[in-house]
Amino acid sequence: MQCDNMENLLEKINKQKLPGHIAIIMDGNGRWAEEQGQDRLFGHYHGVESVRNIVEGCAEIGIGYLTLYAFSTENWDRPKNEVDGLMILLVETIKKEVPTLNKNNIKLHVIGDMSMLPEFAQNELGEALQLTSNNSGLNLVMALSYSSRWEILNAVKQIAVDVEAGKIKSDAINHDTFQQYLCTKNIPDPELIIRTSGEYRISNFLLYQLAYTELYFTNTRWPEFRKQNLYEAIIDFQSRERRFGKTGNQIKEDV
Ligand code: IPE
Ligand code: IPE
Ligand code: MG
Repeated sequence: MQCDNMENLLEKINKQKLPGHIAIIMDGNGRWAEEQGQDRLFGHYHGVESVRNIVEGCAEIGIGYLTLYAFSTENWDRPKNEVDGLMILLVETIKKEVPTLNKNNIKLHVIGDMSMLPEFAQNELGEALQLTSNNSGLNLVMALSYSSRWEILNAVKQIAVDVEAGKIKSDAINHDTFQQYLCTKNIPDPELIIRTSGEYRISNFLLYQLAYTELYFTNTRWPEFRKQNLYEAIIDFQSRERRFGKTGNQIKEDV
């Protein structure tokens, strides 16, 4: 029954109009666990199953970029046992998944303040990045110790340094220049962003890059989010008219 539903949904997706980049705020692990009388970390462990399923789903239908918000700058302020547990889980999972990433031609990227991560995490991540660097299929971008305000401030500081050093002229700074100073340089802006768990906010994620991204919110908690839910989000995305400030008629004429 579930398979049928999956097949039907998959057929409804227009393969010529796939979002090139999907970003996901994977939220609701803690509440999902607590609702079952379990520890929050139990939710994070189950969330990994959703990550596997969604990465596989994106690779199968040919999505170019998938960005997953796994740990925010603000998440460092959570109780120590949760932060420690999450770090170990993230690093162990990435390490364990490298053979599967290679098998599926998936290239790993990381955005965020890596210097905040414990040394073991930095080392393991560096290795995984290296080991998947020749893959040319899906680009999987993990946002770790990431926040958009940190990223933008960092970009501004770097630009100031380069202006002072005479490497660039302040009046020559444009959108393309600015983008080159963000963690997401060379990554196209997301076309679709999904947030799970029934929260309607962005929580410091890709504030600059989301300027014209389509927003999709679902009540499903992250540990229960599967390919089927992803397909529903893509179908919804494909039903929208993206106008980029123009009128609907102009958009129809452009097609
Ligand atoms: C998302 O789930 C995962 C991380 C932020 C690391 P949460 O841990 O935020 O779960 P809720 O929102 O408290 O349910
Ligand atoms: C956003 O979720 C960060 C990640 C999913 C990694 P949070 O649970 O931290 O966001 P808030 O605190 O509810 O806004
Ligand atoms: Mg949350």
